Amino acid sequence: MARLYPAPLMLLFIARLASLQASSAAARVKLHLMHYADGEAREFTNTFKTTDQSINLRSSGHYGKDGKLGFDPGDAAPAFQIKTLAGEFVYPPAAGLKFSLIIHAYTNKSAFLECLWTSESSLTDLVEGFPNNSQALFVSYDDTAAADALWMREQIQRVATAQRRNDILARVHFSPLPVHELGNWIPSVLYSWSYSGLPQVVFTSPEWDMPLVAKRLDARYDWLMGRWGQKSFNLVGAGDGCKPSPAVAGAVAWLSEGNCSFFTKVRNMASSEASGILVYAGMGHPIQDMNCEGSECFTLLTIPASMVHAQPAVDLAIQTGKPVTVSFQTTTFPNFFMGIDQQGALAEMGLLIYPSFRFFNWQAQWFDFSERLRERLGVPVRDVTVLEDVVMQGDSGAVATVDLPSGMTDFNILELEASLSCPGKRDVTCPPWDHTVQLYVCCDHFSALCNQELGRWITAFHRGTGHWLTDVSPLIPLLNSGRCTFTMKTVPWAKPWVAGLRLRFSHTNHTGNQSDQLYPFSLMPLYTGGVFDKEYNKRFQPINFTVPLSTKKVEVYAVITGHGSDENGCGEFCVTSHHFLINGVHKNSRVFDSAGTALGCAMRAGEGAVPNEYGTWLYGRGGWCDGLQVDPWRTDITKQLNLTGPNSLIYFGLYQDKDPNPTSNPGNIIMSSYLVFYK
Ligand SMILES: *[C@@H]1O[C@H](CO)[C@@H](O)[C@H](O)[C@H]1NC(C)=O
Ligand SMILES: *[C@@H]1O[C@H](CO)[C@@H](O)[C@H](O)[C@H]1NC(C)=O
Ligand SMILES: *[C@@H]1O[C@H](CO)[C@@H](O)[C@H](O)[C@H]1NC(C)=O
Ligand SMILES: *[C@@H]1O[C@H](CO)[C@@H](O)[C@H](O)[C@H]1NC(C)=O
Ligand SMILES: *[C@@H]1O[C@H](CO)[C@@H](O)[C@H](O)[C@H]1NC(C)=O
Ligand SMILES: *[C@@H]1O[C@H](CO)[C@@H](O)[C@H](O)[C@H]1NC(C)=O
Ligand SMILES: *[C@@H]1O[C@H](CO)[C@@H](O)[C@H](O)[C@H]1NC(C)=O
Repeated sequence: MARLYPAPLMLLFIARLASLQASSAAARVKLHLMHYADGEAREFTNTFKTTDQSINLRSSGHYGKDGKLGFDPGDAAPAFQIKTLAGEFVYPPAAGLKFSLIIHAYTNKSAFLECLWTSESSLTDLVEGFPNNSQALFVSYDDTAAADALWMREQIQRVATAQRRNDILARVHFSPLPVHELGNWIPSVLYSWSYSGLPQVVFTSPEWDMPLVAKRLDARYDWLMGRWGQKSFNLVGAGDGCKPSPAVAGAVAWLSEGNCSFFTKVRNMASSEASGILVYAGMGHPIQDMNCEGSECFTLLTIPASMVHAQPAVDLAIQTGKPVTVSFQTTTFPNFFMGIDQQGALAEMGLLIYPSFRFFNWQAQWFDFSERLRERLGVPVRDVTVLEDVVMQGDSGAVATVDLPSGMTDFNILELEASLSCPGKRDVTCPPWDHTVQLYVCCDHFSALCNQELGRWITAFHRGTGHWLTDVSPLIPLLNSGRCTFTMKTVPWAKPWVAGLRLRFSHTNHTGNQSDQLYPFSLMPLYTGGVFDKEYNKRFQPINFTVPLSTKKVEVYAVITGHGSDENGCGEFCVTSHHFLINGVHKNSRVFDSAGTALGCAMRAGEGAVPNEYGTWLYGRGGWCDGLQVDPWRTDITKQLNLTGPNSLIYFGLYQDKDPNPTSNPGNIIMSSYLVFYK
């Protein structure tokens, strides 16, 4: 069944030119965000398949528990065994689990997968970066599965250094049987979790009986803004596209690869007013991931572009002056990827934004994170459940009032175990966007500490696996009575998330380290952020304070995130610095130096940043990442203080070591900060 791309609703894009300072010369920095007005992530996936289109599994006999078809993420993966090139893969292994498994079903009908398996950098990423605790099982949908298995193994062998070869080959398994001959439950998951499609070009010409349908790979979404709609276009040959060509105006340009960069071709054809371009690979060459390089990425181009294989029939028609028309479609196909975590639970793999095995690595790093988190959560502590599967939506958010354990002063460690899941089990039910989630607590309504911020997280764009444990021990003094009301909320227009929150109280054990034995007993709220414009720092006044008697340690505790986008990408994608100046001489600074880098947040999948989201989760940001807690910044200022006399403190925030001074659209800084006194 063929489906066309839905016409994008109003396409907004925000081009963010990163400060060059933020990027090493080698790092490509591309800061374009593509926002669709209806908030769906369809720029990447041609929409999820809806129930009425789901492939009928009745004949396969694979019903889950509850009589529902197929499996859900989180269900236990049934045992299976599969014949492989090396013998047999048995899951779970007799020796027990201890690894995560990624199952990938290949088809040569997908240009994306062709590129995934032929790109040198993609294969190298797998060989060099596939985490040690992970294994992969590769199968093929095609009747050529046996040859595909050998070919996939060769691709890996080809790029693996002698040093890496044995290790990687011991952890990847190749099935010579195609998916439709596996005879186990795996096809059921692949078919029922489908949201993949096969993007295709349809060529027609009056001379042909049948249209010619070819697989296509669209240019990197975060480079080229243009997307194909439902229209048909004339196809006009324009050689290698390395020079402008007036003949292509209003048509799709048909270009050979090579002789100049993809960028040059697109720019030339855009300046010739082409409606889009199709680059065909040289004979025997694979389809490539069309992308920009270096400074090219700073030029915005807005026509769509895709790569396809050479089409002799198209060339012949063009050479003989016959008209050729092209249109674009995406045909639904079963899923290509699924995961099984270290506990044997099925997991979705999210979106691979571009064809690279890096996305496997990030998912596997997150499985490792998830396993370590499970171990940490297994340590018994005094815990208090605040929210359990509570829907967080609207102005009020998710609210709960709970009694705290007695003897609060015994505890000097407070961790927040927070989770954000979705109304359904599948990511398809998860809200889009990376919104700030803030947790406020009020225990004593008459206290200045009522409704201060206790924790902050950022939602994962369209993925529901967020789960984090954050140490907020210095904020224990916010819990200044035995009964507290907790409010967790995000922007009121966000679609519903399902929130979980547990407080975990404990105390440091007696390892003899005196500074570990201290208890936070008093808290002084300091500054909140504001609009990051030229008035930003004028709003902050110095704060005078004295240190309470018997204080042993004083800390500044701050949670700071940058949002919005002025012409420098501030505060989300620009490098801002935040300073607390103590007694006029001691500067304590925090710099968001990964903001605006190409992979600043992707690198944090192993720390719990939800991988493979349906947005631009990869880029570094101002103090935060999509699908991650905001780490509190703590700095010990005891030695900077006069413990028996007056002290002063002031905060200021800078862009490029100066006051911010945007010309339009200033961003904003969301900050909560405290002085914490320990005894
Ligand atoms: C994949 O398909 C292309 C044409 O679309 C063909 O040239 C190539 O040989 C196929 N590769 C494999 C491994 O089957
Ligand atoms: C795998 O383990 C080796 C040795 O323990 C280590 O050097 C390497 O960095 C690890 N690789 C990954 C990708 O985790
Ligand atoms: C590259 O340029 C050369 C010289 O201009 C030309 O002969 C050749 O056809 C071009 N290659 C392609 C693939 O268009
Ligand atoms: C005490 O702390 C040390 C070091 O952090 C740890 O190794 C030990 O297991 C802890 N003991 C108890 C009883 O928690
Ligand atoms: C004691 O704990 C503090 C805070 O955790 C740490 O910075 C310091 O290095 C520790 N000292 C020793 C001797 O372990
Ligand atoms: C803080 O102290 C300084 C110097 O002692 C004084 O000039 C200033 O007025 C004080 N500010 C406030 C807000 O009390
Ligand atoms: C601390 O403040 C007291 C009271 O103003 C003063 O007498 C003392 O000299 C100060 N100590 C230092 C180290 O500045």
